[in-house]
Formats: sequence, C-alpha cells, structure tokens
Amino acid sequence: MALSSTVQEASFETEVCPDAHDTAAWSGRIPLIKLTDVWKIYRMGEINFAALSGIDLEIYRGEFVVVLGPSGSGKSTLMNLLGCLDLPSKGAIFLDSRDISSLEESELARIRGQMIGFIFQSFNLIPTMNTLENVLLPLEFQEEDPVRARERGEYLLEIVGLSDKKRNLPSQLSGGQRQRVAIARSLAVNPPVILADEPTGNLDSKTGDYILEFLAKLHEKEGKTIIIVTHDLDLVKHATRVVYIRDGKIEKIEHVNRKKHEGEMK
Ligand SMILES: Nc1ncnc2c1ncn2[C@@H]1O[C@H](COP(=O)(O)OP(=O)(O)OP(=O)(O)O)[C@@H](O)[C@H]1O
Ligand SMILES: [Mg+2]
Repeated sequence: MALSSTVQEASFETEVCPDAHDTAAWSGRIPLIKLTDVWKIYRMGEINFAALSGIDLEIYRGEFVVVLGPSGSGKSTLMNLLGCLDLPSKGAIFLDSRDISSLEESELARIRGQMIGFIFQSFNLIPTMNTLENVLLPLEFQEEDPVRARERGEYLLEIVGLSDKKRNLPSQLSGGQRQRVAIARSLAVNPPVILADEPTGNLDSKTGDYILEFLAKLHEKEGKTIIIVTHDLDLVKHATRVVYIRDGKIEKIEHVNRKKHEGEMK
C-alpha cells in the first residue's frame, strides 16, 4: 500500500481530539509527563525566537505517541523538554506529578537516568568507546553489577543485530549501525519511557522497519511508553496518539483507533 494512502486511512479512522484534556478515556488518570503552557524562547542578539509557544500536552503510561511536524517546527526542542534535558523559558513540566523545574540538576539527572531511554537525532556516541562500551555507558551511573551489565549489553547488541561489531569504534560503523548502537544504549537501563528523535532517519527502509517493529513490540509486550518525534508519516501506523506540531504550536491531536484500523486493513 502506498505510504500516502496508509496515512490518509489512519487519519480518517482516528478521533480528532483538539485537546487531550477533553478525552473521557484519560479522565481521572495521572499523566506520566505533563506540559502546561510551555514556551521555549531562544534569544538571538536583539531578537527573541519562540521555538515552542504555549504547549499543553499530557503523556500517559503505556502510550505510543508520535509527534509529527515539518523541519524547524520544534520537535527536537519539545523532545528535550519531555526528556527533562532542558527547562522551559515559561510554563511547567511535571514528571510523575513532580514539578521538575524545582529539582536540582543532580536529582533530575538521576530520575532521567532511571526513567528515560533516549534515541537522539545525532546519536551522541562516545568516539573513543567501542560498541559494547557505548551501550553499557548508562549502566555505569546506575551501580549495576558489571557481569550482569555486560550480559545485558551483549543481549541488546544481539537484538539490534550487532553482536559481531562489539569491539568496533563508532568511526568503524556505518550510519545505520551507529543508530542501532544508540538504540541498544537507550534500552540499557530498561527504562519505562523511550524518547526517540527521528529513529529511522538514517536507516534504509528495511532496517528502519525492523527498528520500528522492535519499538512497537516494546510498547505492546512490555508496556513501555514510547514517544517518537519525526516528519516521517509512515510512523503513524504504530501510534496510539499523534500530536501534530507546526511553528512551535500543537495544531491538533489525534487518538488512533488502531484495532479498528487494523481490522479494516485485513
Ligand atoms: N539553540 C538555539 N538557538 C536559536 N534557535 C534555535 C536553537 N535551537 C533550535 N532553534 C530553532 O528552533 C526551531 C525549532 O528547532 P527544532 O530543532 O526543535 O526543530 P525540529 O522540528 O526538530 O526540526 P528537524 O525536523 O529539522 O529536526 C528552529 O527554527 C530552530 O532554528
Ligand atoms: Mg529535530
């Protein structure tokens, strides 16, 4: 099926929900991550540029949220805020009901390290560390038993198909392989939340599909909360909710009725 028609059908069969607060299904539940009137303003000399303008968004446990938007719309900026890597210029961010703007950086780093696995747009692999060492890096901050840590690292490299590249440095890997190391690393601490910025951006379509299926399985079988930002419409097929962002604002939010969609696809 052509990509565009898949996306059109997905959009057609979703309930349009301009405001997450209105949805009865979510009422009474406590969001895992909550953004309230969040702004991110960059100062460029004399000019202020609002990369995000008044974002209200709630993410619940076990959701698979895809944030869609064109280049420059604020997706990575939003991702950094959702992952508590950056603080807003204005507004509040709550993680598990705690206002994170009031936390010390060391406390924030600890919570982040335990709760969130990041798959970054730029990989951020350490060039002097080999594949296995890069994967194990997040575990160093968790006082994990070294033998168990190594076993987990090897298991994750097997999952992403890189067992034979354990000793390679990032410079000795292809772009897609580096992306897969970043994915294995994001899973090292077995975090409940995975944030991915264009996770398939540097991959051929076969490897991209493999990684996506893998993330979808983590969501379905292990109940992980997955948040992906992308401009790739194809990723919508895995989402339970799609957030459309444009010029730093949420344009609309769609709840995807996946069961119905899958049923009618048969
Ligand atoms: N440090 C910064 N200083 C000034 N402007 C910035 C800074 N970081 C981002 N911006 C601007 O904020 C806007 C949003 O950037 P962001 O990286 O969030 O976009 P994006 O949606 O992730 O785009 P892409 O799809 O190309 O990755 C852009 O116009 C960008 O130029
Ligand atoms: Mg980006």
